[in-house]
Amino acid sequence: MGLFCIIVRGVYITAVAAPRDAGRDSPLNKMIPAFHPAARPIKAMLDLRALAHNLAVARALAAPARTYAVVKANAYGHGVSRVLPALAAADGLALVELETAIYLRALAWRKPILLLEGFFDTRELPVMAEHGLATVVHHESQVHALCAARLERRLDVFVKVNTGMNRLGLPPADIAQVVSRLRGCGAVRTLTLMTHFASADEPGGLREPMALFRTVAAQFDLPVSLANSAGVVRYREVGGDVVRPGIMLYGSSPFAAQAGSAAGLGLRPVMSLCSRIIAVQSLGPGDRVGYGGAHRAERPERIGIVACGYADGYPRHAPCDTPVEVAGARTRLVGRVSMDMLAVDLTGLPEAQVGAPVELWGGALPVDEVAASAGTIGYELLCGVTQRVPFEVTGLTP
Ligand SMILES: Cc1ncc(COP(=O)(O)O)c(C=O)c1O
Repeated sequence: MGLFCIIVRGVYITAVAAPRDAGRDSPLNKMIPAFHPAARPIKAMLDLRALAHNLAVARALAAPARTYAVVKANAYGHGVSRVLPALAAADGLALVELETAIYLRALAWRKPILLLEGFFDTRELPVMAEHGLATVVHHESQVHALCAARLERRLDVFVKVNTGMNRLGLPPADIAQVVSRLRGCGAVRTLTLMTHFASADEPGGLREPMALFRTVAAQFDLPVSLANSAGVVRYREVGGDVVRPGIMLYGSSPFAAQAGSAAGLGLRPVMSLCSRIIAVQSLGPGDRVGYGGAHRAERPERIGIVACGYADGYPRHAPCDTPVEVAGARTRLVGRVSMDMLAVDLTGLPEAQVGAPVELWGGALPVDEVAASAGTIGYELLCGVTQRVPFEVTGLTP
């Protein structure tokens, strides 16, 4: 992401983070020297055909619901403008960043865009109206602000019900009066009821919140939106008129914590984080590798040094034995991950030399497997790939 300014109506000026993947000819990118091919061997490869496939899987599971593809956090770290061509079949997009929503309009996305956290300041409302953005309303203060607003174009509003996650959402007992107020509010075009489940990925996680939501929704004849990726996979139980899949589109499993594999759901990995071996070390028994000497060789070992570190987004806390793919074979991380490098065990891979290809996660090594080893989730790894990593897109052209 880089910094640029949006000036709206001469009053609302904000420095915002423009997606770093802005078009090649954008003024922003002209300021950033492009070393291509990049000098360092690390890169993130995106398979847009896999993304389009995953979207088709989500749409088929949730038919006849409308599918809003979730593209917050710069499309879960993939880059909104990079992934947009693969999302053409989506009925809408959903995210939390107003500046990226405006950027999507500039990229000629004409279908609905939903702001999942709504607005943070009333000055955003005319901007949202100008760009035809739909908003979540999750708090009394937003209801109040919306009802006081005089807008040139009315907004589509998703009223968020708190069904027990206790993060965002209006109390179920308040929904009747909120709906009635919003129905009489000149700034509102349509209403949809929505919720977000805390535990849609757990077997019993839907029972109570679904019952609560149904009781609320039964009072009105309004469209509803309930499902994230886990809810899309469980669409027969969850239902709804609009679904909001995120992580499954990027080929990671919403059930990773229960060892549910993405491939088992018919999903294909979109991002492969790749690099190369840049040095090989021969260790004798007792020799150590990296900062703190965290790995100590018990026997003669061949160690490969990979051009990838935590400054590229690889988790520093990934422990020894985290899987890594080298030259098409599975091996393991050894020692401490440093800023620009990590070490892998090449003892059983004598053919792997300097220049050997490495996959940190991706097509051969599911991101969920690496995440599980590092005590995190695929979401965090995908979102965490840093700015200095060049991306290469295959599959579909923008
Ligand atoms: C309100 C809302 N809907 C949908 C999603 C997409 O969730 P997932 O990536 O698990 O599909 C999110 C993501 O956190 C969300 O906050």
